[in-house]
Amino acid sequence: MSMNYQDRIPNNVDLGSNRTLQRALEHWQPEFLNWWQELGPKDFQVADVYLRTATSVDAKGWATYGYVRMPDYRWGIFLADRNLDRKIGFGDNYGKEVWQQIPGEYRATLRRLIVTQGDTEPASVEQQRMLGHTAPSLYDLRNLFQVNVEEGRHLWAMVYLLHAYFGRDGREEAEELLERHSGDADKPRILGTFNEPISDWLSFFMFTYFTDRDGKFQLKSLAESSFDPLARTCQFMLTEEAHHMFVGDTGISRVIKRTLEVMKELNTDDPEAIRKAGAIDLQTLQRYLNFWFSSSLDLFGSESSSNAASYFANGLKGRPDESRYEDHVALEQIYSLEVPNGTGATKTEEIPMRNAMNDVTRGSYVKDCDMGVTRWNRLIEKAGHSFRLALPSTRFRRNIGIWANVPTDPQGTPIPQEVFNAKIAGWLPSEGDQAYILSLMHGVYEQGKMAAWIAPPDRGINNNPVDYEYVRLQ
Ligand SMILES: [Fe+2]
Ligand SMILES: [Fe+2]
Repeated sequence: MSMNYQDRIPNNVDLGSNRTLQRALEHWQPEFLNWWQELGPKDFQVADVYLRTATSVDAKGWATYGYVRMPDYRWGIFLADRNLDRKIGFGDNYGKEVWQQIPGEYRATLRRLIVTQGDTEPASVEQQRMLGHTAPSLYDLRNLFQVNVEEGRHLWAMVYLLHAYFGRDGREEAEELLERHSGDADKPRILGTFNEPISDWLSFFMFTYFTDRDGKFQLKSLAESSFDPLARTCQFMLTEEAHHMFVGDTGISRVIKRTLEVMKELNTDDPEAIRKAGAIDLQTLQRYLNFWFSSSLDLFGSESSSNAASYFANGLKGRPDESRYEDHVALEQIYSLEVPNGTGATKTEEIPMRNAMNDVTRGSYVKDCDMGVTRWNRLIEKAGHSFRLALPSTRFRRNIGIWANVPTDPQGTPIPQEVFNAKIAGWLPSEGDQAYILSLMHGVYEQGKMAAWIAPPDRGINNNPVDYEYVRLQ
């Protein structure tokens, strides 16, 4: 079904044929717009932003670019095309027909999964709402807003499922998605990372690299779901998500590139000298990386999880790229885990594979994260420096799972609590680091200009030059 932009709510689900659903969503729409005005990007609602809007749901469907004021963005409901031959790809019902409606026994669980995913989408917009004031260039400002409007659309994607398949409970959940707010003392967002403030652009790039990538893996797991409308929704969201990670990946690369230029100019690798020249030393970058990577790891949940086992058994949430695995039932397999033994060392524990699905997904995520690190290190190596960035161990600074609150160093070796307490300040952004990074944050809005702490991108958006007027400020 093609995308219909004539309706008040753009969609490719033939919304017009279901009047009740259409009315319910048209009722939610002004509440969404109020939320956007109140908690979306602050002070840029009248700017003309060079945004892309989807025109079809396949990977090539990003044909339309043009100036849009964000409140006029055509948020809509778009699902990947239905595959009539699609069968359940894993779990106890492997090979059976996928579901077009939700089996009653899975209603509560699926609702929870959809709400948890949906909650992250507006949360990140709220976390990033002040960043427009300090964008390092118009190019970056535009990318921030593109990410923001798409997270808004991801909220629409989940709200559509809640309204269309969960009746009154779903409508109530949709309201609550606009009532919880990132960092709110009384009504915080559901997941910890989405309550962390993002007050500087280094954190924004780390967030889009590491935390949006968690989103990618969650969406990939849900794209395997037996509940076909959920799977199709997530498939399309993944094509939008790719840009968010691109922003993070290239953002961090450009910071490193600029730092290497300064190191070359000054012929030094002294962090203080690099800071004096207005760039970000690689050690500070590593500490921000440690923070956001470890925080994002918790989003995958416990290493051993009976919930994860039942999601898999019931076909609700699978493994990313399930087709790459040989055994889609995973009933007999065993998974080995290294767990703390309670006296400062580790021991191996064996658990049923189905209980280990969170850790399996986390493992794929870590590999994916590492590809960027390898690319960044190549830049550093090419510039002739021996410093290397590294992902910390998945045991480091965890708050959820078997390694929660177990003191380890970034390599994952258990250490005494006192040693951890004494050293943690050097492993995470210190107050001094944060103050320094914040001191660099000034909005650069002159066309073609770039803040001094970041190199320009290799190319612009949609074949436009880097110095294109990506945002027209009013
Ligand atoms: Fe998203
Ligand atoms: Fe995203």
